[in-house]
Amino acid sequence: MTKNIWEKIDSEQELNHEELCSLLAMENAEQLELLYQKADKIRKKYVGDEVHLRGLIEFSNYCRNNCLYCGIRRDNKKIKRYRMQIDEILDTAILAANLGYKTVVLQSGEDMYYTTDKLVELIRFIKKNADVAITLSIGERSYEDYARFFEAGADRYLIRFETSNPELYAKLHPDSSFENRMKILNWLKQIGYQTGSGVMIGLPGQSIEDLARDILKFKELDLDMIGVGPYICHPDTPLAGNPNGTAEMTLKVIALTRIVTKNTHIPATTALATLRPADGREKALKAGANVIMPNVSPIKYREYYELYPNKICIRETERQCNDCIKRRIYSIGRTISKGYGHSLKKKTDNAIAF
Ligand code: 5AD
Ligand code: FES
Repeated sequence: MTKNIWEKIDSEQELNHEELCSLLAMENAEQLELLYQKADKIRKKYVGDEVHLRGLIEFSNYCRNNCLYCGIRRDNKKIKRYRMQIDEILDTAILAANLGYKTVVLQSGEDMYYTTDKLVELIRFIKKNADVAITLSIGERSYEDYARFFEAGADRYLIRFETSNPELYAKLHPDSSFENRMKILNWLKQIGYQTGSGVMIGLPGQSIEDLARDILKFKELDLDMIGVGPYICHPDTPLAGNPNGTAEMTLKVIALTRIVTKNTHIPATTALATLRPADGREKALKAGANVIMPNVSPIKYREYYELYPNKICIRETERQCNDCIKRRIYSIGRTISKGYGHSLKKKTDNAIAF
């Protein structure tokens, strides 16, 4: 690694594609440690020591899509499907608020059982009954739907672009296109959402050059939140038999994402913790991450929300996960935020109102 790149990072100059590629190709343990330290320093400067907790409610594993990597894809007939009813989702959101979480993330497959009206009602209910910000992660819908969810009080929207390589995107997603995903991300920003996206690391056919472009794309999109997790191979998908992404490459992308995007919210993802249950989240928090999304879904459903196998926290109660995560955060000298953890880039109408 040339001295020059480290100096560029230290003086916060922009890194180009070639420089990102050479950093991503780095394997020397000492140099990697240095990269993580530099990301950690930028994290501290721009987003501080507080870790934001977002309670994740996986409310339905029905999905109309057939993404090649995903365990809840439409054609996976082996999985037991479930849907939570509106009052059950509301109760779970209240439980999340009682655990101290100031955000709930409502996530599901693309399940049109939940009509626009039903979701609008749910968002209103939650806003009325719990003091939380709401993040939606329910896939592709129409502009009008997104606008109505925002009007109802949703603050944030997560929709990963998964890879910035349009050909690879097309191979992995028979039901959607990269172009459409970009259009949706622009809509969400236009409507006023705090907008999150992200990618998987180690997808079959993905190169280091692709990952470097992913990081530049995060910057270009001016995202508020960026989720980066390893691809984990699911045996009941067409990609069965492919290798998983690695924890190391995931950490490099997290570190570089922090270095390049500065004041974004970056979670230590559950997928990374699944690859490295002992210390994956701690490592991510020390390499640029500042958010954790503890699972608060009712235990009886957890094993069925199987995007990838061996997911952690299938049998732990909400309370156990809460204790576990707090202990991990304190163990590395960080603190837990008491606020909503809104975007550090802008304050949207919903963010101000709630
Ligand atoms: N391995 C890792 N992450 C996955 N996701 C879906 N399937 C997998 C998998 N097999 C991620 C996608 C999606 C998010 C909700 O979960 O990036 O956007
Ligand atoms: Fe669930 Fe650690 S977060 S057991």
